[in-house]
Amino acid sequence: MKFSKFVAYGSYLPKKILTNKDLEQIFDTSDEWIQTRTGIQQRHIVEEGQKTSDLAFAAAQDALGDNDSLKNQIDLILVATTTPDKIFPSVACAVQRKLNLKNIPAFDIQAVCSGFIYALATADSFIRSGVYKKILVIGADSMSTITDYSDRSNAILWGDGAGAVIVEASDEPGIIKNIINSNGEHEELLHVPRESKENQPNTIEMQGNAVFKIAVNTLDQIVDETLKGSGYEKKDIDWLVPHQANIRILQATAKKLDMSMDHVIVTINKHGNTSAASIPLALNEGIKTGRIQKGQLILMEAFGGGFTWGSSLVRI
Ligand code: COA
Repeated sequence: MKFSKFVAYGSYLPKKILTNKDLEQIFDTSDEWIQTRTGIQQRHIVEEGQKTSDLAFAAAQDALGDNDSLKNQIDLILVATTTPDKIFPSVACAVQRKLNLKNIPAFDIQAVCSGFIYALATADSFIRSGVYKKILVIGADSMSTITDYSDRSNAILWGDGAGAVIVEASDEPGIIKNIINSNGEHEELLHVPRESKENQPNTIEMQGNAVFKIAVNTLDQIVDETLKGSGYEKKDIDWLVPHQANIRILQATAKKLDMSMDHVIVTINKHGNTSAASIPLALNEGIKTGRIQKGQLILMEAFGGGFTWGSSLVRI
């Protein structure tokens, strides 16, 4: 079995919605400014007491449906998250408990907005090496819990949610190629410091403009790097399923691929940036609306804090 193939998809968004109009009540901004600069109209955010593991569990349940046989074959749980319920244990262990699965490994992967690609690359390696056959891979984040709602250039971006896929060993592709990479040199451009301001929760600090430029340049390069040696060309890609950070970043990547925006799955308008959840949420949207069809080739790519970045070329 050479490949990892997607066999199930799930997603979950918290019910509570925070619109641009709501943000106008919190700080000096406008719906027009936010939509023009980011493409975001609204984001879903967790209710008091709702945890990242609740979102992750709900997405896993959506992927599994009532298929207990599929559930009982899962031999590893990976959760990409930056906003775990607790410092430890991991969200993955909480999901394992909630799914009532016993005696399988479960762990979190922290690569911020690139987390889902990192988790997918990890799952793919375990499957290709024959260690595991069926892996639940989740991206889940509650970014609103680490957002400073007095920082208008930053608070407009973030939302909460979770997406899940189940990958299994297959003779057919499947995941064709993954790239993961990092550069820790610019940590202060996008981070959540450990030290908290007095009586304040730790929140995201970001130099948006600098991050924007590095993200566009890095994603530009990753398109070429992913296709190189893969046996595929730009024109072969049916769908771009990108991390949803800013509509202008998505447009720049589509342009690099000579792709019309009609072939890009866009969810940022409804979800904002949900960090590790954004790619699996977009993937779910593409699959469940019937736009992404079986047999099509998709490119997923992400850039995030670290900096980290990555891509996956996948035959659905
Ligand atoms: N509403 C109204 N005005 C705002 C505003 C808001 N919410 N936020 C910032 N502004 C103002 C600034 O004060 C500034 O005003 P000035 O020119 O009078 O000083 C002006 O708008 C431009 O600010 P700037 O920060 O340069 O805006 P920008 O075009 O870079 O957009 C981001 C800001 C955050 C939307 C953009 O930089 C971005 O998306 N960066 C990438 C972030 C990202 O993707 N991070 C995650 C990576 S995974």
